[in-house]
Amino acid sequence: MQDRCMNTHTEANRIPGKAGPLWGLSLLRTMRADYLGYVTRLQNQYPDIAQVQILNEHIVHVFHPDWVRQVLVDQADALIRWERATQVFSIAMGQSVLVTEGVQWQRQRRMLQPGFTPKRVAGYANLMTSATHDALSALEQRVGGQSVDMDALMTDMTLDVILRALFGSHQVRDARPVSQAIQTLSHSGFSEMFKPFSWPLWMPLPAVRKMRQAKQTLDLVIQQHIQAQQSMASDDGHDLLTMLRLARDPENPEQSLSTKELHDQSMVMFQAGHETTATAMNWWSGLIARHPDVAERIHAEVDAVLQGQIPTPASLQQMPWLQASLKEALRLYPPAAVLFTRRALQDLQVGPWTVPQGHLLAFTPYVIQRDPRWFESPDDFKPERFLPSAPDTPRGVWIPFGTGPRVCIGQHFAMLEMGLIAAMLMQRFRLEWPEGAQWPEGDLAVTLRPAQAIRLKLHPKADIAPSQGG
Ligand code: HEM
Repeated sequence: MQDRCMNTHTEANRIPGKAGPLWGLSLLRTMRADYLGYVTRLQNQYPDIAQVQILNEHIVHVFHPDWVRQVLVDQADALIRWERATQVFSIAMGQSVLVTEGVQWQRQRRMLQPGFTPKRVAGYANLMTSATHDALSALEQRVGGQSVDMDALMTDMTLDVILRALFGSHQVRDARPVSQAIQTLSHSGFSEMFKPFSWPLWMPLPAVRKMRQAKQTLDLVIQQHIQAQQSMASDDGHDLLTMLRLARDPENPEQSLSTKELHDQSMVMFQAGHETTATAMNWWSGLIARHPDVAERIHAEVDAVLQGQIPTPASLQQMPWLQASLKEALRLYPPAAVLFTRRALQDLQVGPWTVPQGHLLAFTPYVIQRDPRWFESPDDFKPERFLPSAPDTPRGVWIPFGTGPRVCIGQHFAMLEMGLIAAMLMQRFRLEWPEGAQWPEGDLAVTLRPAQAIRLKLHPKADIAPSQGG
């Protein structure tokens, strides 16, 4: 069967799917209006793989987890990221590890990887907990059952964490314009992808001006911090920027990152490392407030393990419900709900099918992670699926960080940060879902955010007085 399908594209063994009307152009409008709804319907019709055509572009959606791995892990060398997406991302992130390909990407990834091992990342725990401690202490003074915009809270905390992790300080006086700039670039980036080209940033058009101003805001913050750090001339910092400055290519030990590369890599860490984590925590907090039974288990676990102390990477390991709830939130609402679409540089084998060279391949964690074949009642929030005692989920069905060589470099950083923030929040507050409030829809704009703000009533657990430095 496999041999017969190789390199033949007759009607009988054509990948299932069909072209939409108007040479597929009408699909573009549907995709733009509700991309995840569109892919969900496609997967309902073609559960494992589906092909659609828009003008002369063939897009193959891969849904079966074995085949997702077969492409992204086993045949990664035969893929590049969709050129239009990398063009758009490079407007904001330059030639950073997120967008480069081939030898340039390999060199950058080799140089950055040592800064993101679980051991190295554990070194950022104190800085993560002190940023969280500061934010939650301020909140404790302010709220007493009042409703809090969780997006604003999580955005402030994760921005503070990434600023401290990157620059070893948090000297940005007002972080709000920075997070707004990140959101502007994220929103414009998503709509740019549906256009055939982007205007250069110097064009005097309103939409372009917004992007230019957002980029300038971020460029300035990064430049100021790089300069401030260089003037300190210290090489013993434990921040990411020092790591980047000292990084050497193991294959060419005399090579370090150029100033431009240093800027671009800082920019990507800054953007990729903050909005995704904030979004994940925003959804998670809503889910916890909606599920008091799960919240109770986490409260019991956090109180018993921490006994008023600050959490550490080791103590998080003793909180299976907390960890499972984070994984389950990432399953239902993966911030990167759609991975970068890939282009096949040569014919690819996908299960029994051959995907010809030049075709695009699309991977949608949001849809793959809600497939009832792998997750019973897939739309329900059930952290127990991820408890150590639960049966293993099949490989490739939980991919919020992607998979293969281009898997998220910050995944251990993100999981640690989320665990520490979640533990400290549950240690200090009870989360209440406001009566009558509706569960929000998802709004996809690079990241999948709640379309309506999640506002929770936060009740300080007055009987617990955490002490720093546990
Ligand atoms: C919950 C938080 C996060 C999620 C869900 C997430 C998700 C992802 C995903 C899905 C990819 C791969 C995209 C693809 O294959 O097309 C990715 C790549 C990447 N992520 Fe994350 N990420 C998170 C946090 C972070 C953090 C904290 C950092 C850095 C501090 C980071 C830095 C990066 C970088 C640099 C890449 C590109 C890697 C490469 O292409 O070699 N991410 N992320």
